[in-house]
Parts: sequence; structure tokens; C-alpha cells
Amino acid sequence: MPYRTLDNVDVAGKRALLRADLNVPVRDGRITDLTRLERLCPTISELAGKGAKVIVCSHFDRPKGKRVPAMSLAPVAAALGEVLGTHVAFADDCIGPPAEQAVAALRNGGVLVLENTRYHAEEEKNDPGFAAALAALADLYVNDAFSAAHRAHASTEGVAHLLPAYAGRLMQAELEALHAALGDPQRPVMAIVGGAKVSTKLELLGNLVTKVNTLVIGGAMANTFLAAQGIEVGKSLQEAEMHATARDILAGAKAAGCEILLPTDAVVARELKPNAPTQTVAINAVPADSMILDVGPATVATLNGHIAALRTLVWNGPLGAFETPPFDAATTAVAQAVAAATQAGALRSVAGGGDTVSALRHAGVLDKMSYVSTAGGAFLEWLEGKTLPGVAALSD
Ligand code: 3PG
Repeated sequence: MPYRTLDNVDVAGKRALLRADLNVPVRDGRITDLTRLERLCPTISELAGKGAKVIVCSHFDRPKGKRVPAMSLAPVAAALGEVLGTHVAFADDCIGPPAEQAVAALRNGGVLVLENTRYHAEEEKNDPGFAAALAALADLYVNDAFSAAHRAHASTEGVAHLLPAYAGRLMQAELEALHAALGDPQRPVMAIVGGAKVSTKLELLGNLVTKVNTLVIGGAMANTFLAAQGIEVGKSLQEAEMHATARDILAGAKAAGCEILLPTDAVVARELKPNAPTQTVAINAVPADSMILDVGPATVATLNGHIAALRTLVWNGPLGAFETPPFDAATTAVAQAVAAATQAGALRSVAGGGDTVSALRHAGVLDKMSYVSTAGGAFLEWLEGKTLPGVAALSD
């Protein structure tokens, strides 16, 4: 889908409303990861450097239409200022007089963050009046929030129809990486999908089998597929009510000519706790009192053999319970093989989703992939093949 970028747009002296995703992870009141802020810098610097007045708006958490002080963007604005190395002003409402006065005080090249858009219930309702109030603050709109583009909200969708609207550089980078991975990939292309539940990734699996040459299913989700084929998985997490669906997905893959790779061996333990005693067993020999917590070394060898011959890889979801060692071993080994092939120039690797980003960071390869998306839900909906309303609203 063609979309407008900032190329050749004259922004000097103009008020640019920049929809960012400032929904950063916070623990005990502290921001635990600055990646989303760091990735905004190219767009903000470009706009400010060209003399625009940069008005950043975003949601933060889910205050559901109320002013929840713990969900104020004020501390995030301060952190953004530190990351940018410049003063960032703050307005304690995203519309109305506080926002209007703060915008009026902005100089060319200045940066302002508006308070949480979700303090207004109209944001999530994509209310036209609220979108118009946002639009009234600016001359043009730039959306750099791919990770919120699956939401048809006033600040991600509605306002894009009221102002000249462009994709920011982060949005553009994200869309280019995703297009190269699944839209028009170099083949062979493989997807690795892990995670706990088939039920949350049904549409995604259904879409991927029509797009990729090989689909690797890992994580607890693989247990459901194994059990659906009559393999005893002991006490492993699995969804008995999804067996018929799992068989349908396998049949769909066969019809589409997509090879499915399920674990052929597993690392099992009686309980999920750090450094629990483990056993490595063939997949048809899982003890009745144990659970599968990681894929085994034979499976890793198979996957790494495939990776050596691949051109494109899409990865969402860890292969095992990577947060609890030693059940991080397979995810880390495969991540390192992917990173090595990527660094050698043989492979384009695109990964996304919260757990996946943590797993790649844990494996020490976060910066060695071709592209890592910081989007969670939006990345999943894109893997499902859905049109994201925030992206559609930027199209020509
Ligand atoms: C995210 O963190 O994935 C995005 O900011 C979207 O947040 P939401 O799920 O609250 O809409």
C-alpha cells in the first residue's frame, strides 16, 4: 500500500502533530526500556531540524477516559528530552487551552509533548470532534506509531483525514522491513512462531501457512499441535479444546505447500523453576509426570540447518520458557544462528513482539537482526495479514 513519507515535504515554520508511541514499559514508576523513545529521534530531529514546531501526542497505558496520575506522560516527556538531548515542553492536556497555549509558545524547531490522549474517552471512540480538536493544533500530521496503528483511534486514524498526513521515518522503516519480510520476500522464507497459546495466534498461523515455505511452531503452542496428533505431552501446557483447530492448520499448510516443523525432541522437567533437574527426551517419550519446557538439541540442529539455507526469516515468540534457565537454551542457540547468518549478509531477519524482543536481548543479538519491531499487537495483526487502520489512513 503506497503511503506518503516526509520526503520533499516543506515543514519549515509549520506545526507538525507527531503521533508517537510513548507507551513505554514502566516498573515501580521507572521507565525500564527507552527503545521506543530512541527510535523516535530520527523523525523528531528531522522535523525540528527543518524548522517545524513538533507537537508530540501519544497514549500511555489504558486510563480509560480518566485522568489517572500514574499514567501521565510528564515523566516520559522528560525522558524523551534526555534521549533527544534537547528541552521538551509539556502541556497537561492534549486538546483545549493548555495545549493551544503550549503550541503558541513553541518556537520553530521546538518540541512539545501533549498529555495522554487516552485521558479523553473520545480518543478510543475515534470521536470526530476530538480528532478535530487535535487537528486544530497543527498544520500537518505525521504518524510514527506503527505499534499503535492497529487501533482506529482519533490520534492514530481520525486526525489523519483532517490534515495532510505522512508516515514518519520510524513508521516508514517498520513498513519497509515488514514488506521485505512477508509482502515480497526473497525465498526461501521461514517463520518461527512460539508462545503459549494457539488460540491467540490462530489467524496468524492461518495467514503464515499461505505465505512462507516453512513454519516452525515452538513454545507451549507446539504442545497443542503434538497432542492433537496423538503424542503424549505429559503435564505440558496445552489447549485440549484446540486440537481440531491445530489439525485444520496442519491440513491448511499441506494444501498450501508449507512445511511445518514441530519439535522432534524436548527438554522436560517436573516443574518450571530456575535450574530444575531436566531430561532431554525424544518427542514421543515425554514422561507422564513431566512437562516440555524447551525444544531439544536435535530440533535446534534441524532449525539451524534450515536457517543456513534461508533468505528471509520472520520470528514471533520464543521456542521455550526462556525466562527460566536452562529453558532459554534453544531460543538463544537459534537466535545466535539467525544473527550470524544475518551478519554474514545471507539472511534478512525480522522479529517482533514483546517476548521476542526480550528473548533476543537475552541472547545478546537484539542489534544483530535486520529489523526488530517494538510493536506487540500491531506486529501480530500485521502477521495475521490485516490492514492496520493507522497505516491505511496514510495511504495515497
Ligand atoms: C503497545 O504498547 O503495544 C501499543 O502502544 C498499543 O497499546 P494498547 O494495546 O494499549 O492499545
